[in-house]
Amino acid sequence: MNILITGGVGFIGTNAAIYFSYDKKNKITLIDNFSRVGVDLNAQFLKENFPKIRIINSYVGAIKNYEKEIKTANVIIHLAGQTAVTTSIKKPHYDFKNNLLESFILLDFVRRNNPKAIIIYSSTNKVYGDLKHLDSKYQPIDENEKLDFISPYGCSKGATDLYFLDYARIYNLKTVVFRQSCIYGPHQIGVEDQGWVAHFTKQFLFKKPITIFGDGNQIRDLLYVEDLIQAYDLAINKINKSRGQVFNIGGGVKNVYSLLQVINILEKYFKYKIKISYQPMRVGDQKYFVSVNKKIKKLLDWQPKTDFKEGLKKLIDWQKNNL
Ligand SMILES: NC(=O)c1ccc[n+]([C@@H]2O[C@H](COP(=O)([O-])OP(=O)(O)OC[C@H]3O[C@@H](n4cnc5c(N)ncnc54)[C@H](O)[C@@H]3O)[C@@H](O)[C@H]2O)c1
Repeated sequence: MNILITGGVGFIGTNAAIYFSYDKKNKITLIDNFSRVGVDLNAQFLKENFPKIRIINSYVGAIKNYEKEIKTANVIIHLAGQTAVTTSIKKPHYDFKNNLLESFILLDFVRRNNPKAIIIYSSTNKVYGDLKHLDSKYQPIDENEKLDFISPYGCSKGATDLYFLDYARIYNLKTVVFRQSCIYGPHQIGVEDQGWVAHFTKQFLFKKPITIFGDGNQIRDLLYVEDLIQAYDLAINKINKSRGQVFNIGGGVKNVYSLLQVINILEKYFKYKIKISYQPMRVGDQKYFVSVNKKIKKLLDWQPKTDFKEGLKKLIDWQKNNL
């Protein structure tokens, strides 16, 4: 298969590139504009270890730089984008362009030039807003939850998510949308604004303090990156079932942790107490998000496999080797 991955040297992209390279018949091309600080580390790793993977330095919207690759792709995994709510609030125009506008340009180019391609979009649980109405009765969230785009990031991701679903309905494209919970694992360059598990582990490694926004009791179902990519793989292999579908996907009830619980695990692992300071909760932050993985279990027979503590160790080992 010809597989094109946008945002290909980012965290999920690098893991997807590695995963799909194991089938030698796959021809993999990555598109990335290297806007995420630190991803050149991933690009270097791929060049050294997977020399057959092609890396094209381009914006997603600059179609002419990789037109042939789109036209000949069997599968497109669209991961590129601006990923932080905080950045979207500071720079809404930048967020709109990188998430909604460039995604639309790609999607519509596929409609006109390669409508048979499978095209996967990495959406987010943020499309459900802050879920304040559920504060008093925490419950896992399924795909029928009301959409409520809070923040420019919520709007740009949410609108793209709906475009992808609609293009399956109106133009019969083979689109699949994943509303991803919190993903973690090797090759993640976590910063305070995004990728909090990798940010916390990095702070522990460097013995630097952690700032928590809110009281630290926010709850997430943490999903190991390889489990997510196995879901992409299943969606591709079972495209007759997955096309036009949206799936909530997360670590599920077995991998539910609060920020403070993760810090507690890390304190035991690193054998010291870290300095923590507190700031008010950030806009659009959910106090609780746990994904109902029922639909994806039923349609694609997927469920998360990796226990959080096991996945966390793999992330820390990777960071230790890449300090
Ligand atoms: N990591 C998570 O927990 C999570 C959760 C929900 C959704 N997502 C979504 O999954 C996707 C991948 O996330 P990630 O964690 O791998 O992020 P990442 O920042 O590591 O990867 C994104 C990559 O896209 C590139 N990029 C950004 N804008 C681009 C553009 N306009 N053109 C070309 N390349 C561009 C960046 O340089 C980066 O390498 C994102 O769309 C994100 O919104 C991630």
